[in-house]
Amino acid sequence: MNCEAIKDQCCCGEESDQQKYIRIAEIIDNYKNREGSLTQVLYISQTIYGYLPLELQIFIAKGMDTPLAEVSGIITFSNFFSTQPRGNHTIKVCMGTACYVRGGKKLVDRLENILSIQVGETSEDRKYSLEVAQCLGACGLAPAMMIDEVLYKQVSPDRLKAILAKY
Ligand code: FES
Repeated sequence: MNCEAIKDQCCCGEESDQQKYIRIAEIIDNYKNREGSLTQVLYISQTIYGYLPLELQIFIAKGMDTPLAEVSGIITFSNFFSTQPRGNHTIKVCMGTACYVRGGKKLVDRLENILSIQVGETSEDRKYSLEVAQCLGACGLAPAMMIDEVLYKQVSPDRLKAILAKY
């Protein structure tokens, strides 16, 4: 849905940024006196907001009375957190040894070409985020990739467009 979001109101009923910040502020209030809860607050905040841009990191750091460097450090350290908007679907191409030698890199190259993005980026229409993984547990049927929770085995670059067309 294409939504022209106004700061405190949204034309299509989706939650506005301001409403998301209000919810995150409530989460911070609930957690800020609990020791070691910063990661949990970041996790919930990302679930609400979709990703963790710098301004939201600053908001959380202030609310949790924690240095911004600590917030940024946790985000940088974990693969789970993202500072960029995420696509509706996450593509993970396996670059583990078995998949790499059987053409995993060619899948990455073709996907980068089809989606006009690099690994770690999200397509302009916010439909796909492209990532690589180390092993998806399907080494005998390499090369493998996942889209969200669905595993695709023995993928060839020529199958990619047909696979993406399902989404
Ligand atoms: S190396 Fe790719 S599935 Fe294991």
